[in-house]
Amino acid sequence: TDYESILVETTGRVGWITLNRPEALNALNSTLIREIVEAATAFDADPGIGAIVITGSAKAFAAGADIKEMADQGYIDMYLNDPFARWGEFGRLRTPVIAAVAGFALGGGCELAMMADLIIAADTAKFGQPEINLGVIPGIGGTQRLPRAIGKYKAADLILTGRTMGAEEAERAGLVSRIVPADDLLTEVAAVAETIASKSLPVVYAAKDALQAAQETALAEGLRFEKQAFTAAFGLDDQKEGMAAFRDKRPAEFTHR
Ligand code: HXC
Repeated sequence: TDYESILVETTGRVGWITLNRPEALNALNSTLIREIVEAATAFDADPGIGAIVITGSAKAFAAGADIKEMADQGYIDMYLNDPFARWGEFGRLRTPVIAAVAGFALGGGCELAMMADLIIAADTAKFGQPEINLGVIPGIGGTQRLPRAIGKYKAADLILTGRTMGAEEAERAGLVSRIVPADDLLTEVAAVAETIASKSLPVVYAAKDALQAAQETALAEGLRFEKQAFTAAFGLDDQKEGMAAFRDKRPAEFTHR
């Protein structure tokens, strides 16, 4: 498929989506959003893909929603023709997603990173929700996912002042899974993605699903969900293989069954 604003590549069982609007620091316009969602859902439908990486450039993961595209929209325009409606599909992918973030991840860019399962950041990464400076508030999850990730008080500091935070602060706060030197970002991310993609696909789906439940439900309901998903794993060939391999002191060879 030919895309205008992203690059798409497959290496082994890993699907890569690279945002490619350098002239606008990967600002998320409607074309870019549609293409990301299309590429990601295509990877998600492919059982040959066990992990998805979304990344930008050295300067910007994404500098937010496209301000120039939004500036003249009115209330009714945003309601009837919501350019962000399809992000829901991205948030519901079964396949684990790693956001590989270098440079700016601001506004919708930070929110896109937070839709991923892991955020691996270059030491150059800068996160923030600067919408308040533009006379709006975050609109694709920032006010909900950020406090869940870093707590209410740190999230309020970012969302109400519009300041940005660097990779170190973001890691301390719990927004970032790991920090790596900028030059090593894609190598490190590839290794993590390959590790995830080497596991049993249905078990990875179950683990992601249960992690999602932790974000969305109260503890008792989440524990019930986990118990069901854990028990269901015992119906899989891969559980038999994983535990047999441990007993035999050899690496497991999962068949994704
Ligand atoms: C449109 C953008 C853009 C954006 C950058 N550009 N961010 N265009 N939307 N969000 C464009 C600039 O206009 C410029 O193009 C080019 O990219 C390079 O940007 P510069 O500003 O020249 O770069 P620099 O001086 O290095 O500053 C980088 C920056 C700054 C600090 C990241 O660009 C910036 O503050 N951008 C906006 C960040 C922001 O407010 N994001 C939140 C958006 S609202 P030209 O052609 O002019 O030179 C949002 C809401 C989400 O995300 C929720 C919606 C429901």
